[in-house]
This record gives sequence, C-alpha cells and structure tokens, in this order.
Amino acid sequence: MSNVMEKDIDHILLSQEELQTKIKELGAQISRDYAGKEPLLVSVLRGSYIFMADLTRAIDCMCRVDFMAVSSYGSGTTSSGQVNIIKDLSDSIEGQDLIVVEDILDSGNTLFYLMQVLQARHPASIKLATLLDKPSRRVKPIKADYVGFTVPDKFVVGYGLDYDEKYRNLPYIGVLKPQVYENA
Ligand code: PRP
Repeated sequence: MSNVMEKDIDHILLSQEELQTKIKELGAQISRDYAGKEPLLVSVLRGSYIFMADLTRAIDCMCRVDFMAVSSYGSGTTSSGQVNIIKDLSDSIEGQDLIVVEDILDSGNTLFYLMQVLQARHPASIKLATLLDKPSRRVKPIKADYVGFTVPDKFVVGYGLDYDEKYRNLPYIGVLKPQVYENA
C-alpha cells in the first residue's frame, strides 16, 4: 500500500474488479427490467456519485439522470430520522419511472424518508438501487430492489463512501482502521 489514504485501510472488502463485475450485472438487469421504458435515475449525493457514473454506463436503455442531496442529522456514524433536502431535483418526476441510486442502505432512516418525499410527487414507479446493503443495522422497514453487495457492520470507505468527507476517491471499498475514527 503506497498512497496517503491506504495506511488508514485495514483491508480491501471489495476490489475494483468485483465492483465492476457486479455493476455490469446490475446494469444488465436494469436494462432488461426497463426495456422499452426511459427510466430516470436519481443519485443521492454525495456518496453515490461514483456508483451512479458506473451504473448509468452499464445501462443500455434510454435513460435520464438527476441529482439530489440530503443530510441526515445524527451523531458520529449513525444517521437519525431527521433528513434535510439540501439540493432538490432539477425537474418534475411526475409520471416518471424512477430509480433512486444510493451507495449504502444502513439504518434506512435516510431512504425511508426520501422515498416518501419522492412518492408524494407521483412518479409512475419508484425503485431503489443500492451498491451496499447493511441489513444488520436496519431500523426502518425498507428494502432495495437492486443490491450490489450485502456487507457486514464494518466502517467502509472508498468508491464514493467517506469518513469525515475523505477517502471517497479510493477506487475500491475498504474497511477503515478503527483507530482512525476512535482517535478523531
Ligand atoms: C450515507 C448514504 C445514505 C445514508 C445511509 O450518506 O449515502 O444516504 O448514509 O444511511 P442510513 O441508511 O443510516 O440513513 P451520508 O449521510 O454519509 O452522506 P454522503 O452521501 O454525503 O456521504
């Protein structure tokens, strides 16, 4: 391990190859499911930006993209039920086939709230795609329609996911050494 971030990584959980193989599979599945339709993919910033870029390129049906940003108020590594929309979508979603794209489904607080907000805007349909799923942490009744990987309850970073806004640009998903956040 050579770069300045890698000294903080305990081990690689998902390599670049594993990520790309899975995302191609997800893209193919979405392309089949939405054949003849034009889904609107909604990326929930910031964590999903890299997954969104790769997933959309793995989809070969006509599609459009939009972005929104939310913040979950919570302490430390856990989100709360309170969610604030920091950046809203650019266009109306009424009548659209929506696919919400997330990097991780953890407690479910963020997505449970967000799906309700989006549902109230009357899309034709709404599905959820998440790269990572941590079902062991779930406090809200929410399931993703497309899941890349089910992961253990470890602090993961990279490929869009952060700790303290850092490590997003690691090309793989790694487990952060506990001393990094315990000593913060
Ligand atoms: C992450 C992730 C989800 C949320 C999931 O976002 O992108 O939005 O946490 O956690 P939950 O299921 O417990 O609500 P985060 O708040 O870390 O912001 P970011 O996307 O800007 O990294």
